[in-house]
Amino acid sequence: MTFIMSIMLPFIIILFLLLLVLGVVSYTHLENVFGIFIPYLALAIFLMGFLYRILSWAKSPVPFRITTVCGQEKSLDWIKANRLESPFTTLDVIKRLALEVLLFRSLFRNTNTELNEGPKLIHWSAKWLWLAGLTFHWSFFIILTRHLRFFTEPVPFAIQFIDKLDNLFEIGVPALYLTDALIVAAITHLFLRRVLVPKIRYVSLPADYFPLFLLFCIIGSGMFMRHIYKVDLIKVKELALSLISFRPALPEGIGVLFYVHLFFVCLLIAYFPFSKLMHLGGVFLSPTRNLANNNRSKRHINPWNYPVKVHTYEEYEDEFREKMKAAEIPVDKE
Ligand code: HEM
Repeated sequence: MTFIMSIMLPFIIILFLLLLVLGVVSYTHLENVFGIFIPYLALAIFLMGFLYRILSWAKSPVPFRITTVCGQEKSLDWIKANRLESPFTTLDVIKRLALEVLLFRSLFRNTNTELNEGPKLIHWSAKWLWLAGLTFHWSFFIILTRHLRFFTEPVPFAIQFIDKLDNLFEIGVPALYLTDALIVAAITHLFLRRVLVPKIRYVSLPADYFPLFLLFCIIGSGMFMRHIYKVDLIKVKELALSLISFRPALPEGIGVLFYVHLFFVCLLIAYFPFSKLMHLGGVFLSPTRNLANNNRSKRHINPWNYPVKVHTYEEYEDEFREKMKAAEIPVDKE
């Protein structure tokens, strides 16, 4: 697929969906569909899809330990082991996985390679992807946590505190959240690197651009609602509380932009299990990361090995002893 197609196809789909929601909500009275039916449907698809993917991974046989390591394995007492790079116990695995999930440790070691004149192959450390990835994921997580203020009454102290902290600099009215600015910067970096770096552009598919455009729409509509085209937040909260208590009731006049925001959130949720975004669940089920590297100290037997009939050397010698002696081949037993 050409670059133009890879980027235009998801762009056109998103643009079409944006116009569709705007048109339908503005000119018909189908708010119920966008405010109640689609959110429940998206959640059901997400839960079933997520469960299906996790179960199918969990069922895949992993007879041997294929841990990715880059440090000395634990062996003899006088050889210094690196328990983080080559985890030996489940606790070591948890420590390494936690650093991976919370800090993207392996991405921190990202390197770039280039063939220069000479010819000379050079490698150098490349941290921008790590920084943008980490900033995006943490900002996203904090934004979601802050959104819990719509789903809780009274709003727990921890959520109020995160909200305050995110608003620390109080820039503008209403104040610009720090995570909003950071997520926009990070996602712009992730998008531009796909478009501007030829090697990454070459391997980028519609499935890489689609989630980026979707996130742009969600974050864009959210920020637009907060700073420019205000919606009725009391009514949003009423709807959110009614949805989670499974007594859905749609207040009138929330504002069309809210339905755009919610629709794209639903799309993201429903698309999640069938996309590369499933790395959220996959990272925990990856056998290269979730197994201790104890192959030398513990024998792992392939569970579906069937009993193999073997012919031992002793049996072989018993069978051919006379012939071996005649050919002057040494034998164990006379
Ligand atoms: C993937 C999930 C979601 C993401 C990434 C997201 C993202 C955002 C962002 C970046 C903003 C800008 C202001 C801020 O950071 O708070 C925002 C605002 C907003 N979002 Fe979301 N959102 C999500 C889900 C939802 C849901 C489920 C609701 C429905 C209750 C919702 C309702 C709102 C409202 C009402 C605002 C305006 C807030 C204000 O004026 O302060 N969002 N959203």
